[in-house]
Amino acid sequence: MQQLKNDRYLRALLKQPVDVTPVWMMRQAGRYLPEYKATRAEAGDFMSLCKNPELACEVTLQPLRRFPLDAAILFSDILTIPDAMGQGLYFETGEGPRFKKVIESASDVAKLPVPDPEDELKYVMDAVRTIRKGLNGDVPLIGFSGSPWTLATYMVEGGSSKAFTKIKKMAFADPNALHALLDKLADSVILYLNAQIAAGAQSVMIFDTWGGVLSPRDYKLFSLQYMHKIVDGLTRENEGRKVPVTLFTKNGGMWLESIAATGCDAVGLDWTIDIAEAKARIGDKVALQGNMDPSMLYAPPARIEEEVAIILDGFGEGSGHVFNLGHGIHLDVPPEHAGVFVDAVHRLSAPYHKA
Ligand code: CP3
Repeated sequence: MQQLKNDRYLRALLKQPVDVTPVWMMRQAGRYLPEYKATRAEAGDFMSLCKNPELACEVTLQPLRRFPLDAAILFSDILTIPDAMGQGLYFETGEGPRFKKVIESASDVAKLPVPDPEDELKYVMDAVRTIRKGLNGDVPLIGFSGSPWTLATYMVEGGSSKAFTKIKKMAFADPNALHALLDKLADSVILYLNAQIAAGAQSVMIFDTWGGVLSPRDYKLFSLQYMHKIVDGLTRENEGRKVPVTLFTKNGGMWLESIAATGCDAVGLDWTIDIAEAKARIGDKVALQGNMDPSMLYAPPARIEEEVAIILDGFGEGSGHVFNLGHGIHLDVPPEHAGVFVDAVHRLSAPYHKA
């Protein structure tokens, strides 16, 4: 077992004592960093960057060179799975992800393969292995996947969406087709995340970015049920350590108890819920990750520090909190503000861990 020099991120997810509250930022590698833009230009485009393990490792490490972050996250994308299923992912500048083939019917779903992670997705596993070497035990590496529902929204809408009419039409007019798709995605995600763990991911996170567009009943039926299946299928220990699992449903504040009941180790919070309330509701069961509004990083440093202090106070004493933004960092945030944020979490959290 490799000794980690800094394991407070893993410890906090398991509610073990820590010296200060660990912090990382969703989308911490990305376009707000000039060095990221330079490496992406070297790669050609975003998918070529994802498919080049050395360059994916380089951009994973870039934010860690700037800021004392407590975790690294694999540089990749949630849409690697639909791409490996043969949908032909591409990125139109300024317009987000697109697919050459869109899923429209039960027969389209039936034709989709379950990708072999060490074959079609080997570039992701190679990136994990390369990053683990590059990290050299400094901090843990987070692996990730999209939730089946969130992946399905992109696969059926053909890209990003605002109203989700195509996927909801499938959900309500042909639910069997959608359940077949979600089930196939859940199987694919289990294989994919377990392969990331075998390759060296020390914790995994599931991004359910669009679960919050569903009604409470439909959230359970079309999103949570499949995340629960994934949690049940994951390798929970590797290299002699627990591999903590974090579930993040954006806009999922109404459903915290159900999310915690899946057996995950931690629940990711966006900024629309008060962390003190979240802790009172599920803090005895799971750790919490979050939850500063990413737009707060536009504020002057003193205001960022004030907000960090408020959230730390909301969580209160003891372990079980991984500080983060409530969603990905915006691309026009000054990098120095991210530095102020990370430093503030470490400096201001020490008094909460004195016991
Ligand atoms: O957090 C990290 O630093 C790791 C890398 C990471 C990326 N995407 C890189 C990326 C992670 C964890 C993701 C997850 C992801 N991808 C999600 C779930 C989390 C969330 O933000 O809600 C979703 C929904 C996607 C799908 C996706 N990928 C979209 C909608 C877009 C376009 C929007 C945008 O920001 O441009 C992407 C592209 C993408 N994924 C970029 C990055 C750094 C930008 C691509 C570029 O360099 O131009």
